[in-house]
Amino acid sequence: MLIAITGGRGQLGRTLERVLGAQHQIIILDLPECDVTQSREIDRIAALKPDLIIHAAALTDVDGCARDPIAAYRANALGTHNVALACQRAHATMLYISTNEVFDGAQTLPYREFDPPRARNPYGASNLAGERAIQMLLDRFYIVRIAWLFAPGGNNFPKKIIELARQRGALTGVTDEIANPTYAPDLAHALARLIETRHYGILHLTNAGIASRYDFIAQILKHAGLAHIPLTPRTLADYPRASTPPTYSALANIIGADILGIQLRPWQDALEEYFKSL
Ligand SMILES: NC(=O)c1ccc[n+]([C@@H]2O[C@H](COP(=O)([O-])OP(=O)(O)OC[C@H]3O[C@@H](n4cnc5c(N)ncnc54)[C@H](OP(=O)(O)O)[C@@H]3O)[C@@H](O)[C@H]2O)c1
Repeated sequence: MLIAITGGRGQLGRTLERVLGAQHQIIILDLPECDVTQSREIDRIAALKPDLIIHAAALTDVDGCARDPIAAYRANALGTHNVALACQRAHATMLYISTNEVFDGAQTLPYREFDPPRARNPYGASNLAGERAIQMLLDRFYIVRIAWLFAPGGNNFPKKIIELARQRGALTGVTDEIANPTYAPDLAHALARLIETRHYGILHLTNAGIASRYDFIAQILKHAGLAHIPLTPRTLADYPRASTPPTYSALANIIGADILGIQLRPWQDALEEYFKSL
């Protein structure tokens, strides 16, 4: 397949290029040469005649989105609308990477693909608007919601935690923000299988298991040989911030696992592999 990847130089985009590049022809699209918020990109992307567009470009700074909701909507809603129009014009399938933050966090069990989304911050709401644009415009799409992505290389959560632990000598971690850490290479391999199925619709693909930020940080410290660093539990209320993250936004993978047999290993095993790969 000829696959165009927007946000192709981001965490997920780089991993997708490496994993999918073994079997497919890849075109990387990213800032500054391709800005998906610009309507001229609709025809420019369509002219590439891709079979599939993986749309991973987004404004991912959730606090930045809360401070500037217009920028969030431009990038995540309008940008996705434009990419969906490019798919329509090119008769391409679209695979949109969306987020656990389309849910409000009021549940106490993992959200299933068919639970009604209700975002509580501009990052989640702008992603949800992107999802809706795709559903209005296209017949053939995958909307894949993920959470807490970490990839080898570049800036990633484990790397930031290790740097902070070394600088500060002590850390805190919130216990009431809960989701699913997701290792980009595992996700990329799952997406490689998904795009062969033509089983379109909304899917939740994350590593198996759930974690609080505290749990995730504790495991990172353990694998980094920094388990002696004191880690103090805190709650979201202790850290006022621009965005209001959903407290419980873990995702349940029902469709991928039960219908397609696509399931990612437990996040703890993936984190172990991340450290081995360093
Ligand atoms: N990271 C997470 O924990 C997480 C969780 C849930 C869902 N997701 C979703 O997963 C996808 C990939 O995330 P990621 O972590 O790989 O993000 P990332 O590392 O921030 O990469 C996003 C890429 O998109 C580019 N981009 C931003 N605005 C653009 C625009 N207007 N036109 C074209 N490209 C643009 C960015 O360029 P610049 O760097 O130059 O801005 C960057 O290269 C996103 O859709 C995100 O919402 C991520």
